[in-house]
Amino acid sequence: MNQLIKKPESVFGLATGSTPLGLYKEIILRCKARKCDLSQVITFNLDEYYGLSSDHPQSYHYFMQENLFKHIDIKPENIYIPDGMTDDVQKHCRWYEEQVRAHPIDLQILGIGANGHIGFNEPGSAEDSVTRLVDLSEQTISDNSIYFSSKEEVPKQAITMGIKTIMSAKKIILLASGDNKAKAVKCALEESPSANCPASWLQKHNNIDVIVDEDAGGLLKN
Ligand code: GLP
Repeated sequence: MNQLIKKPESVFGLATGSTPLGLYKEIILRCKARKCDLSQVITFNLDEYYGLSSDHPQSYHYFMQENLFKHIDIKPENIYIPDGMTDDVQKHCRWYEEQVRAHPIDLQILGIGANGHIGFNEPGSAEDSVTRLVDLSEQTISDNSIYFSSKEEVPKQAITMGIKTIMSAKKIILLASGDNKAKAVKCALEESPSANCPASWLQKHNNIDVIVDEDAGGLLKN
């Protein structure tokens, strides 16, 4: 909210999953109450399943529409989400990366996967990775299968901003809750930065807040 007051034309990087839902609800409530103006805001979503159309109920397009965008006064043309149905993935990823570069992200919201992924940057993701098509890990497919009617229906690939794309944000807020995230939070914050735990690259960012509940922070030494 402060970011919005400071700069009405802020660029926000947004995440999906259960973690940011409370934040989105709060934004909707506050904006309705105070009639805040989001008409100049630009948003970039981290990722999208490859092969899901924007009207598929498990697509991140649909998620964002239902859980945030349809409740606020953001302009549709200011919303950027990778296109899971693109017929030229490489060209689309290059274009997405250029758009982020042209509209530098002021504040990036992040969740974290149980294996330490951010966006869909799975273990093995390099520090200099950019927007690209990735294979999802077995663990991510299994973790995310709760949103689909079966594990077989979970797409095996996704388009995601890279680590470098995420790290280009001026400020980052990483959110995590629940003990299933404790190992990921531990590796993100207390292990040396490496591709084994993609969220650990965030230690190299100079303006990041990490907000975890007791369970997610349960394995932290400090
Ligand atoms: C997905 C998303 C991530 C998200 C993660 C955790 O894999 N690509 O951006 O952070 O899930 O989701 P949840 O918040 O539901 O635990």
